[in-house]
Amino acid sequence: MTEKKIIAVIGATGAQGGGLVRAILADKSGAFAARAITRNPNSEKAQALRAAGAEVVVADADKPETLGKAFAGAYGAFCLTNFWEHFSPERELTQAKSQAQAAKAAGVQHVIWSTLEDTRKWVPLEDDRMPTLQGKYKVPHFDAKGEADQIFRDLGVPTTFLLTSYYWDNLIYFGAGPQRGPDGVLAITFPMDDKKLPAIAVEDIGKCAYGIFKRGREFINKTVGIAGEHLTGAEMAKALTRALGQEVRYNNVPPEVYRSFGFPGADDLGNMFQFKRDFNQYFVGARDLAFTRTLNPELQTFEEWLAVHAQQIPIPADQPA
Ligand SMILES: NC(=O)c1ccc[n+]([C@@H]2O[C@H](COP(=O)([O-])OP(=O)(O)OC[C@H]3O[C@@H](n4cnc5c(N)ncnc54)[C@H](OP(=O)(O)O)[C@@H]3O)[C@@H](O)[C@H]2O)c1
Repeated sequence: MTEKKIIAVIGATGAQGGGLVRAILADKSGAFAARAITRNPNSEKAQALRAAGAEVVVADADKPETLGKAFAGAYGAFCLTNFWEHFSPERELTQAKSQAQAAKAAGVQHVIWSTLEDTRKWVPLEDDRMPTLQGKYKVPHFDAKGEADQIFRDLGVPTTFLLTSYYWDNLIYFGAGPQRGPDGVLAITFPMDDKKLPAIAVEDIGKCAYGIFKRGREFINKTVGIAGEHLTGAEMAKALTRALGQEVRYNNVPPEVYRSFGFPGADDLGNMFQFKRDFNQYFVGARDLAFTRTLNPELQTFEEWLAVHAQQIPIPADQPA
């Protein structure tokens, strides 16, 4: 029996990396084995991955000295940072650098870096159409990931730069689900006017990453964008109406209103949606659907995702009449 090539997955207990580990494990006759990296091997999610057949290795991207054993002997690595755990772009940059250095030192042959655009290339800091945040960012949770691309390049790490998309799963887990307006009718709220929002079932990100690893060297040193569908807010609301069996409207608000909503990260997300709205042709074009499907033939549409997940979306109770 030939030895399987190990893919070390940062974020294996999370949404993106978890999808990759599950994709590797599901392909029993495939060429790859999954190594799940976690800070907490006793968590339920880590235990479930171990039970499903993944090797579980403890490491912490905040502790570079722990990453050596995470990547040792690995053919591939999926590298990820989780902005929403700390809201610090600087910490993402440091974590990305540690992962890139560890991959280089371990001689990893193919890294996929889960990245996003450095929006400052489109909207320089002096451009006041949107506020500068945290001193030197426009969309902090995008910009640091995009800035980190250069770290992988400078170190000569053989990397595929994976531009991900908005998760439909945010409707369940990220507070993006429908809320009731003053008239009691449900509405989803984005500051996107009638522009299309590229989005994806998060499980499909991992499946696409697996597709990239399977294609060998083809996408090394390339940027690859993925999405499951490009829908306007109105189209999403229509699909939600059908899936939930009650009316859902699209509530289009100006970005400055979205930024003022006051929840943690509202300013960052307001700028993000504005970027996607104002540079829509670029942003949608960078995430081609037919191409994504070549990486992952099981790619879900929004309707298919809703057929499985609609009942998990938290719906606020009817207001008393
Ligand atoms: N929500 C969206 O629509 C969206 C779209 C595109 C991109 N993103 C980006 O996706 C990223 C989050 O990915 P996700 O949604 O897959 O995450 P997630 O489901 O919230 O899980 C976070 C994962 O990161 C791991 N992790 C966090 N800090 C770590 C550290 N210091 N060392 C090692 N592992 C660490 C966690 O592992 P343990 O806890 O087990 O150690 C966990 O597996 C964010 O940066 C976000 O900006 C989000």
